[in-house]
Amino acid sequence: MKKEKKITASYEVYDSVSELAKDDQTLMAKAKEAISRAYAPYSNFHVGAAVLLANGEIVTGNNQENAAYPSGMCAERVAIWSATAQYPDTRVLKIAIAVHSAIKTIDKPVAPCGACRQTLLEYEKKQKEAIEIYFTGEVGNIIKAHSLEDLLPFSFDQSYL
Ligand code: THU
Repeated sequence: MKKEKKITASYEVYDSVSELAKDDQTLMAKAKEAISRAYAPYSNFHVGAAVLLANGEIVTGNNQENAAYPSGMCAERVAIWSATAQYPDTRVLKIAIAVHSAIKTIDKPVAPCGACRQTLLEYEKKQKEAIEIYFTGEVGNIIKAHSLEDLLPFSFDQSYL
């Protein structure tokens, strides 16, 4: 018999960074600071990400482009892999993402791409604890999602292997 099911996820919307808890403001500030070190001469879309670990370390990353376009990498994966490469056994608590476009003002929150969600979700499943995610545009709202699972339901994971 057919069963109708629903996927639901809640998330929070903040009007400005000042509404976030102090530690989250710091994390977002680190993500914004990381934008300035992005290498994005082809898209002119600069992304910064900051990962907070359970040991208190904040590891940042940014997008790194390449003349052979697919060889470039998103900020979120640069940040998470940098964090897990240095601290493989430390829990990942949160990631904040910020952007700057040299072409137009980004007036809505920029969600991570599908490949970055899949990558981040891997570590959430590995540690069996949610990773909070904060993302924003250049102006306007900030979104806080409670977990990667919320952003990527029906994901492929190790249970299939
Ligand atoms: N980009 C990121 O860094 N993160 C995302 O989630 C989406 C896109 C980068 C990749 C590329 O350097 C530029 O933004 C335009 O796609």
